[in-house]
Amino acid sequence: MRVLVLGSGGREHALGWKLAQSPQMCKLFFAPGNPGTAKLGQNVSLPNHADILAFARDEAIELVIVGPEKDLVLGIADKLSEIGVPCFGPCKAAALLEGSKEFAKQVMDRVGIPTAHYGCFEDYEKAVAYVDQNSLPLVVKADGLAGGKGVTICETREDAIKALRESLLDKRFGESGSKVIIEEFLTGTEASFHIICDGQNMQALPTAQDHKALLEGNLGPNTGGMGTCSPNPVMTEAISREVMEQIARPVFAYFNEQGSPFRGVLFVGLMLTWHGPKVLEFNVRFGDPETQVMMPMLQADLLPILYQAACGELKVETLALSQHAAVCVVLAAEGYPQSPRTGDLISDVPEDRERLAVFHAGTATDAAGQLVTAGGRVMGVTAWADDIERARKRAYKAANQISFYGKYMRKDIGLRI
Ligand code: AMP
Ligand code: GLY
Repeated sequence: MRVLVLGSGGREHALGWKLAQSPQMCKLFFAPGNPGTAKLGQNVSLPNHADILAFARDEAIELVIVGPEKDLVLGIADKLSEIGVPCFGPCKAAALLEGSKEFAKQVMDRVGIPTAHYGCFEDYEKAVAYVDQNSLPLVVKADGLAGGKGVTICETREDAIKALRESLLDKRFGESGSKVIIEEFLTGTEASFHIICDGQNMQALPTAQDHKALLEGNLGPNTGGMGTCSPNPVMTEAISREVMEQIARPVFAYFNEQGSPFRGVLFVGLMLTWHGPKVLEFNVRFGDPETQVMMPMLQADLLPILYQAACGELKVETLALSQHAAVCVVLAAEGYPQSPRTGDLISDVPEDRERLAVFHAGTATDAAGQLVTAGGRVMGVTAWADDIERARKRAYKAANQISFYGKYMRKDIGLRI
């Protein structure tokens, strides 16, 4: 099969790593990809949707897999469907689930999905009044896509006022933040749960736990994710079933009724509270770095699963797992998440070997052909083993070996377990 993967992160490298193992894979392209994906297939530059469509036609692409949410929110799946190219990733109408937090809340309200109480505001004064009427802490969220920076946990009234001012008045997130959600703060354990859907049939992937905060002990600012482990030990079989039946199924049924079947992966960000699982957010694509632990956990061939889902013909089976546990440690650049340093030489990257893979994210090749840093999250080092502790040890051993100026990693990924 001729496959095009859109995106350039650790997620896309991990997807490519898994897809390249498929006996059905014939030619694999990444747009734009990174130096890691260049070893698995061919990186191509396709800066806009017209380029992607022309490439898909000219290169007889049989499946496009969309990594980043932005392309989905801008309707790449609909455009590919018009020219008859199967796309793994939902249509624009369903991608709004991630493109607008207000829309996601409305869908949750309509189909009865447990989530935090909230208010939605465009007016600054009304938003401040809501803060004064509700108890702290509160969570302020930009309604639209904000590159993972749109959520602020506000411990004090001052924090909340600052977040509202930045979003609504100073337009820190542009149009994406001209509307905000103010949400009840939920306590519990977070879990990432991914469900593949062809519009009707569902297939759950291994559970994962992200570590969003920059610093050890879950302190400091939120990031895109500093590391993951899989499985998430708090997600029991019973909770997984509950999430599938009470959350995922009604969401997929809703989009079916609307005539916009969801063909792709629904990433449910959960808080497991004393009152049961509640939805923090919906994403309409694979999580990163969740994908970097989910891929090595899967024994099944991923390519036919994604192809069948894209075509609306998913054959649901029990997915055999190749390993019991996986841990991914993210190596970040100095200054991440605010303003990461780039252009530093990267050395001593171990070769992928049994039960170890190094997934590239913010890396580039400089004019001299050397590997350099080029983004906030530089690489993800993933190891897998019979249990979390062994996977953790292997991942950290390799992560310690890699060297670049200002390298930062959390030392407690998977430790609470
Ligand atoms: P989101 O993009 O909505 O998932 O928010 C990013 C992160 O902020 C989540 O992974 C949580 O760590 C945190 N967060 C979001 N909403 C809440 C909430 N209502 N209560 C507590 N933490 C939250
Ligand atoms: N790791 C969280 C995300 O991909 O949104």
